[in-house]
Amino acid sequence: MTPEQENQWLFVAETRDLAEGERRVVAGPDEDILVVHTDGIILAVGNQCSHQALPLDEGALDGDLITCPYHNAQFCLRTGEALSAPAYEPISCYDIKVEDGRIYVAQEPRSN
Ligand code: FES
Repeated sequence: MTPEQENQWLFVAETRDLAEGERRVVAGPDEDILVVHTDGIILAVGNQCSHQALPLDEGALDGDLITCPYHNAQFCLRTGEALSAPAYEPISCYDIKVEDGRIYVAQEPRSN
């Protein structure tokens, strides 16, 4: 294990490498994690739509909303809440920390 994994944090990117509007997918222990820089904040959610478990990372961003590219369900990236059909269940959310110009995401989702 790397030091980041022992600390329950996964390295995402240098802050300078994740500009506004950009995104990364990080392999977590339970699911892939989507990290986005949007509206001046970095947010992270499980990269799996709650409708048919397809990946969200190609979805359109609008502030703290992401639209699933498959059937257009929308989710709040801050809370994971499903905001429109055909998804009704929330997606998981992950904490982010920034230290010494490096972005990390928690390995485990937070309980919303
Ligand atoms: S898989 Fe996302 S809306 Fe259907």
